[in-house]
This record gives sequence, C-alpha cells and structure tokens, in this order.
Amino acid sequence: MRKTIVSAAIAVAALTAGAVAIAAETVTASESEQKPPHRHWHFEGPFGTYDRAAAQRGYQVYAEVCSACHSLQLLAYRNLMELDLTENQVKSLIKDIQVPDLGDDGQPIERPARLSDSFRKPFANPAIAAAANNGKAPPDLSVMIKAREDGPDYVHGILTGYVPFDKLTPEQIKEFNLTKDDNFNKYYPGHRIAMPPPLADDKVTYADGTKATLDQEASDVVEFLAWASEPKMEDRKRTGVRVILFLLAMAGLMYAVKRQVWADKH
Ligand code: HEC
Repeated sequence: MRKTIVSAAIAVAALTAGAVAIAAETVTASESEQKPPHRHWHFEGPFGTYDRAAAQRGYQVYAEVCSACHSLQLLAYRNLMELDLTENQVKSLIKDIQVPDLGDDGQPIERPARLSDSFRKPFANPAIAAAANNGKAPPDLSVMIKAREDGPDYVHGILTGYVPFDKLTPEQIKEFNLTKDDNFNKYYPGHRIAMPPPLADDKVTYADGTKATLDQEASDVVEFLAWASEPKMEDRKRTGVRVILFLLAMAGLMYAVKRQVWADKH
C-alpha cells in the first residue's frame, strides 16, 4: 500500500516537472513571436457546433482562393453535403472543377469532378508545388487547424497578420533581413512567410450576400477548415454529454441501492 502511494507521488511529481518544463519551453520559443488574439469560435466548448452558413462561405473562400495553392487531401466533394447542402447544391458548386484521371486508352486526361472524387490537388507533387511558391510547398490544410497550437486563432492570425513593407520599422527590416519581395507576418514563426497575403476586403463575393471583409473571410475559412479537420466533432461532443448524463443517473441509482442495502445495519 505504502509503495503504491510513494510511486503515485513520484508519478505526480514527474508529471508536474514535465508540465513546467514544457511551459518554460513555450515561453522561450515565443519570445520574438506575438500570439494571435483569442477569438470566440462557434465550435468551441463542450456544446459548440459548426456554424453551417459560415462554413459554407468558408468553402467558397477555399475554393476561390486557397485551392489554387493548398490541397485538402482528406476531403471528398460528397463530404460537403454534411454542411447542410443538398446533393444538387454540391454538384452545382463543383460543376467547373476538373480533376486528373486516366482515359480509356490509359492516357492522362482531365474530366469534370464527381461527388466521389477527393478534393483536387493544385500541384502534381511537392517539388512542383515548391518551385511555384518561392521554394516552399504550400502545406495540405486537412488537419492544419488541429496541427497548430490554438489552431483557429493561429490560422485567422496568419490570414490577417500581414504588415506591408512600407509599414515596417527599419529595425524589423534589418532584424529579419527583409526586401520588398518578402512577406512579413506578425504571427508566423520567424515572420518571413512564403505565402503572399491571400485575402483582402472583397476578395470574394459571397453567395449569401454577407459583406466580404478581410476579417469575415478569414473567420469563415477557419470555420470551414475546422470542420474539415474534425467533421465528426459534433457526434463526439453529443456522445460525451450522454455518457456524463448516464454516469450521473448511475451514481444516483447506486446511492439509492447502497442506502437500501445498509438500511438495517445502522
Ligand atoms: C499563392 C499560393 C497560396 C495561396 C493562394 C494560399 N496560400 Fe497558404 N501558403 C502558401 C505557401 C507557399 C505556404 C508556406 C509558407 C512558408 O513555408 O513560408 C503557405 C502556408 C500556409 C499556412 C501555414 C502556416 C504554417 O504554420 O505552416 C496556412 C495556415 C495557410 N497557408 C492558409 C491559407 C489559406 C486559408 C488560404 C486561402 C485563404 C491560403 N493559405 C492561400 C501559399 C498559398
């Protein structure tokens, strides 16, 4: 018994030390970096859900802007129906998209995308992707929101965090060795980012009439990418709530049973 307590105490101490070390590490790593401000997201918290209208607008931003450079390999077009779109609506969204395939004679061809196709990749391979983008291949965005610390805030920060060259201080230009052709981003680690600013006010014209400010476009595409990185989140949360309710009911029942069993013994 004593042994167990001692080893439990050691384990707790080790975990705490680990957590402190990790926290210290994060502080050193972020010294020169600014953290993107925290924003409220519809999908946050134990009861959060995706805002379908925002995610649909986000798909429009992805399709019209980001898809020129970034793939979304884990999604197929039929998945868009989970955003409360009918089959016909999705078909009309993808009607102009061409995907590579092999023709009857085995030769590569392009044909119109079907619901069963995976999202079209903008570049055939990472080397071509890098060659077209100043030597840095645009990463796949399928799980970007989950892969980065504070993913939603971070991606929103990147999309809105560009500082134009003429707004930079001479110290910044010197410290980061910048020329007019470099992109400076407040929230990108190291600040120099190979991605030119992808969004601006009125970069898209929203089908639902929402005003397309930079901030709105960034929030919408984050909502869409958050859904893309975890389409089953809502089911997961619902299951969690049911499990907790079940455990509460079970605890109540067990207490009643205990009282019954011990009733004569007091
Ligand atoms: C012209 C091509 C291009 C377009 C359009 C583009 N990107 Fe990028 N993006 C890049 C490149 C290149 C990188 C890699 C940057 C680097 O490594 O310096 C990148 C990196 C990123 C990153 C990664 C940051 C990280 O932590 O690794 C995110 C997030 C991102 N892009 C999101 C988007 C979104 C969302 C859109 C659409 C609104 C978009 N991008 C449009 C080229 C593009």
